[in-house]
Amino acid sequence: MCGIVGYIGENVEKILLEGLSILEYRGYDSAGIAVLRNGKIELNKRVGKVEVLKQSVKDKKKFGIGIAHTRWATHGKVCIENAHPQFSRGGDIAIVHNGIIENYDILKANLIKDGVRFSGDTDSEVIAKLFEDKLNLKSLKVVLQKLEGSYALVLLSKYQNKLYFAKNKSPLYVAVENGRAMVASDPSCFVNFSKKYFDISDGEYGFIDKNSINVYNKGIKVEKTSKSINFKFSSQKMDGYSHYMIKEIYQCKDALNNIIQNYNLKNIQSILEHIKNCNINRIYIIGCGTAYHAGLIGKNYLKNQTNFEVNCELASEFIYQNNLIDDKSLCIFISQSGETADTISALKYCQKHNSITLSITNVEYSTLAKQSRFVLPIFAEQERAVASTKAYFAQVLVLYILSKVLAKKEYITTLKKFQKDLSFNSDDIIIKLSKIISLKDQLFFIGRGIDYITCQEGALKLKEVSYINCQAMPSGELKHGTLALIDNKSLVITIITDKKLLKKSINNACEIKSRGGKLILFTCFKISLDFKNVFDYIVKIKPTLDEFMCLQSIIPLQKLAYFTALQKGNNPDMPRNLAKSVTVE
Ligand code: F6R
Repeated sequence: MCGIVGYIGENVEKILLEGLSILEYRGYDSAGIAVLRNGKIELNKRVGKVEVLKQSVKDKKKFGIGIAHTRWATHGKVCIENAHPQFSRGGDIAIVHNGIIENYDILKANLIKDGVRFSGDTDSEVIAKLFEDKLNLKSLKVVLQKLEGSYALVLLSKYQNKLYFAKNKSPLYVAVENGRAMVASDPSCFVNFSKKYFDISDGEYGFIDKNSINVYNKGIKVEKTSKSINFKFSSQKMDGYSHYMIKEIYQCKDALNNIIQNYNLKNIQSILEHIKNCNINRIYIIGCGTAYHAGLIGKNYLKNQTNFEVNCELASEFIYQNNLIDDKSLCIFISQSGETADTISALKYCQKHNSITLSITNVEYSTLAKQSRFVLPIFAEQERAVASTKAYFAQVLVLYILSKVLAKKEYITTLKKFQKDLSFNSDDIIIKLSKIISLKDQLFFIGRGIDYITCQEGALKLKEVSYINCQAMPSGELKHGTLALIDNKSLVITIITDKKLLKKSINNACEIKSRGGKLILFTCFKISLDFKNVFDYIVKIKPTLDEFMCLQSIIPLQKLAYFTALQKGNNPDMPRNLAKSVTVE
């Protein structure tokens, strides 16, 4: 993962640090900056978030050339030695790297044999140490030929007013305008700087100076065409909220409004029409984490609406199993970022099998979007909190629309009905519950049918921001093993939104009650007096159409995760060990 940025121009420190703040979603274990001025490379590295680095850097407001990095540790612990930039053997070249060098151990062993000394234990330092102190296109190409794995690299030499770069499998973009140039992991870094950018492709390398971009592939110059920056970034302002996570939960409403508006437009309807007209025999939905959970709901929709065989798979497992895929298989990739390495690998696998590829993503310029035959945007606007909330909500809505389209049915009327019913629950009961939950080490979530999927997503959300061990189970499975864990200290959240499953679900709750466990119920139903005492707390969810109860019920669970993180003193926007964009397999 990691975010990298390079800049040539005035105010170099300020611009690089702003770039790092934008890229911090890619990791926040440590951060560093190196600036070339008066023939010297000034280095500053800090363990911790970009803010820690910011406090220690003085903006010299002068022209300079620099590179910067925010790290998510893959190889090597979080410490100053492993933070970037890393330096070449003689210290004349500084580099920042995003990706993983798979053959770094062999390369490192050979370098050590040659007497090269290392100060840390990252794969990135190996790239740096492969350079003696000459940086030019030839030496860069020689080093690149030795690397196996993924990389986006930016390199700074003590002796040149240029920044070199290279890319393979990790994203990299460049912009050059009015005597300033920038290279970064994400074009969102360019918004206040340029209206256009260049997209660097795998295998390309080159350099930028303050006026030009020079790109090569296998020694041959490549002519690049610029792209316009016409995507919308949501405001970095908190708008009165304390964290992005809670702001984004409330933005589920905007996502719904945007989807209703945009999925009524001709351009999107024409994409849907093209998908509908494909010759499809089976469907695969593929994603990771929360996106996978959205896929599970999508599988339900598609199974209810169509007669296709529908499979939902974890991207990280998918390519290692035997899948029945051919040119009639519709393979749907769900990804907020569009940069998740496992999902991209699954896409490549499906392309090899000539399947029809469709990405459902929030980032129009992402690798997944660029490489898929069809793209359906989710219109959730940029999501900043690491824990996905509004993107999940929007992914589910787009899958709902897709299921209706494939069933040749209309979808706007039901969405408009949901628009009226969408409710955010009062914070009072959720805060009260978050206080109780924050004292626990473990928690169970149980539900049946679609509620079980909501349980999985609710448990993931809660565990990632509260660090409490949360386990989601189908209610009926409890007595096949897990019930052994239930005693009078256990706390179980149960979700019941499906009338057909009400009785059976209450029976399962009774099994927990009889063993002393405490129960929190989230439901849209009135619970009869006979059963009221089974539950210690009841959170009422406002009813809506059955197909949207999964979205109506995820909102209080997202809020529960948020408030529990606050109770535990955690930063819900940046949970430990995680990053927003998972660009390594
Ligand atoms: C959890 C979460 C992750 C992501 C997963 C896939 O809150 O956000 O589980 O859903 O890493 O990311 P994308 O959707 O960017 O492919």
